[in-house]
Amino acid sequence: MKEQKLVSGMRPTGKLHIGHYKGVIENWVKLQEEYSCYYFVADWHAMTTKFDNTESLRQDKINVVTDWLACGIDPNKSFVYIQSDIPEIAKLHILLSMITPNNWVERDPTLKDMIKMIKSGEEKNNSSQLSYGLLGYPVLMSADIMAFNASFVPVGVDQLAHLEITRDIARRFNNIYKVELFNEPLPKMTQVPLLKGIDGQKMGKSFRNDIKISDDEETTTKKVMQAITDRSRLRKSDLGHPDNCEVVYEYYKVFADRETVETVYSECQKGKRGCADCKRMLAKIINNKFSPIRERRFELSKRPEYIKEILKAGKEKARPVAQEVLERVNNIVGISL
Ligand code: TRP
Repeated sequence: MKEQKLVSGMRPTGKLHIGHYKGVIENWVKLQEEYSCYYFVADWHAMTTKFDNTESLRQDKINVVTDWLACGIDPNKSFVYIQSDIPEIAKLHILLSMITPNNWVERDPTLKDMIKMIKSGEEKNNSSQLSYGLLGYPVLMSADIMAFNASFVPVGVDQLAHLEITRDIARRFNNIYKVELFNEPLPKMTQVPLLKGIDGQKMGKSFRNDIKISDDEETTTKKVMQAITDRSRLRKSDLGHPDNCEVVYEYYKVFADRETVETVYSECQKGKRGCADCKRMLAKIINNKFSPIRERRFELSKRPEYIKEILKAGKEKARPVAQEVLERVNNIVGISL
């Protein structure tokens, strides 16, 4: 039995893209060998911003889990579940919200960014309204982690501020009630830098610049052919600058082997390799990489009932762990008689 617990979640934003794969899921798959991993779909968190836009929520949840399983998240090794299937998370969230000072959440820089995005209309939300629930985002995230008393949380840099609050809340609980119940969970950072979208901006569904894990070969090739390269290079015979090639060369570094990367670098610099050929070759490399994942995904996508069964089993395995933590919390606080 792997002893150290690790929790990580994802908001259901629809089908995942290859940036999610490189930045998050590949790492999750590896961590399964070393830790007792709790991977969940954060549907309540999705509602902190999309409360008035939930018609795709059900399908989005299924899609995310289908992607995970196709990529190698193994429900026999890890706990795979939906956040809202574990009511203990909500119960803990209420208690933690009582002990969390207002200004801790108000000064959370990641939350401030989310608020800015909603106000500017960048984040989909019909009414551009900020809710009480959104303010509690980091507290709910703390409950996700603390309900299982995890020691580690694999997250990207953008989530570090939230996790800092989790550590503060865990410490505060222990101090107030004079116990040593909660761990102060540590981040587990991914080393791979974030993949940019094909236009050089942040990769994201709403920016329409992403390549999905589930895209077919043709779609992938079409998207890669649109990707930006060295902007100063107009003809094949112009000498290229791979270091200024923000997307295509960066993708090579992530998806190709070292030898290929070196060849691409020198041929581009010498003007021996045109951008179109270079992109065609990159598309092939990406398609080869994702071909087995896509096949598995295609098979799984025909069996949504199977996905639901996995999630039900995940809930049944995960929930007793959270129930035990909550029982201790309720005893400590004096909630239980
Ligand atoms: N906030 C995370 C994100 O947007 C998702 C998340 C919710 C999470 N609860 C979590 C991540 C708990 C790690 C642990 O990416």
